[in-house]
Amino acid sequence: MSKRIQSIRGMHDILPARTPAWEALETALRDVVTGYGYREIRLPIVEPTELFARSIGEVTDIVEKEMYTFEDRNGDSLTLRPEGTAGCARAGIEHSLLHNQRRRLWYTGPMFRHERPQKGRYRQFHQIGVEAFGMPGPGIDAELILMSARMWRVLGLKGVRLEINTLGSAKARAQYRERLIEYWSAHRDRLDEDAKRRLHSNPLRVLDSKNPDMQALIADAPPLPEALDETSLAHFEELKRVLDAAGIVYTVNPRLVRGLDYYTRTVFEWITDALGAQGAICAGGRYDGLVERLGGGPVPAAGFAVGLERLLTLLETQGVQSPPSSPHAYLVTAGEAAVRMGQVLAEHLRDALPRLRLEANVVDDGFKAQLKRADRSGAELALILGDEEVAGSLVAVKFLRTDEAQQTIGQSELPQHLRAILSLE
Ligand code: HAM
Repeated sequence: MSKRIQSIRGMHDILPARTPAWEALETALRDVVTGYGYREIRLPIVEPTELFARSIGEVTDIVEKEMYTFEDRNGDSLTLRPEGTAGCARAGIEHSLLHNQRRRLWYTGPMFRHERPQKGRYRQFHQIGVEAFGMPGPGIDAELILMSARMWRVLGLKGVRLEINTLGSAKARAQYRERLIEYWSAHRDRLDEDAKRRLHSNPLRVLDSKNPDMQALIADAPPLPEALDETSLAHFEELKRVLDAAGIVYTVNPRLVRGLDYYTRTVFEWITDALGAQGAICAGGRYDGLVERLGGGPVPAAGFAVGLERLLTLLETQGVQSPPSSPHAYLVTAGEAAVRMGQVLAEHLRDALPRLRLEANVVDDGFKAQLKRADRSGAELALILGDEEVAGSLVAVKFLRTDEAQQTIGQSELPQHLRAILSLE
């Protein structure tokens, strides 16, 4: 026997038992974002490596150590997208969607990061992301947060908390950067290797270090809000006013800096304590400089992305039910004539009842075996077509999940009858 080939570590098959939950989640989230006027954009999974280096930032975990980068046959450096914002901005610039225009866009699909796999952290994972371009004020920041809060309400999700922060303007951040470099340099002996390496290239990220030995030093670092510019502070105040007015509960976390370099001003995360270390189910913020950095005009922008695996796991831990995947009915066709007629009848039923999930027997199996199969399929009803029923244009309806007595119905009345029993529209 040949050696079996396994899927790649951290990249998972989503099996039929789980796809209904995925589909239901995707549909619910799609309905929310389209309800706010966001329009779908479909983006390539592979992009030029430079796109991510320039947008996410050279000195970030993602670009330094997590990207799936390879040379294609032309010798070009390509990368499997680790996130969607960069590609969305690239596409917007490339197709002139952003120049002097307001755009609300959304996308979904797999993202790839070579992280150490663990619960809630995968090498292929899925996001639904939204990006809004051309709106400089705090109104759009508020809309994004309100929309994400609505997602949790629609899904029946509880116990996620919102953290927000402001990183200030690019200029204020540059000044804060200098202050941090000074501070880290003065305590160089207490920095770990990562921090030493980032001291000049990305001093803000040092604030995000999880190393317990660094926490005291981080706690005493000069706080960001003091370094912020007036306009950014006013922007943040207005955002908080809208959230307060809309009854959204949040905490301001001055240490929330995010792992991607493109952010300016508002950043936010929705966090749960129920998933262990990987607690962020949704994250985003404003990124006013990105479009320009990628060769477009000065287009203000903001967005967020939801991690679908984490959200699904959280929904499951809270016992939120996903819809059934089993068929409503299983068509049992016993006898030669019945097998032939069965498919024709099934087509009539599907014509009359587009929402019906009907699985039909199409092989010459024995009656008993088929009934077993019908039961295992999870169907509520077995529709039985034997030679006798064929002769009389009848169908026997057997209830597989209740004690109700079997019924015999004329084939022409069957659609009407099924619509009633199965409450189909
Ligand atoms: P991010 O924080 O890197 O932001 O990812 C967003 C969400 O994707 C996370 O909160 C998490 O739920 C999920 N996620 C990230 N990495 C993994 C992983 N390895 N396994 C499972 N889930 C993961 C972004 O990607 C930005 N593009 C968000 C954004 C959009 N900002 C502005 N617009």
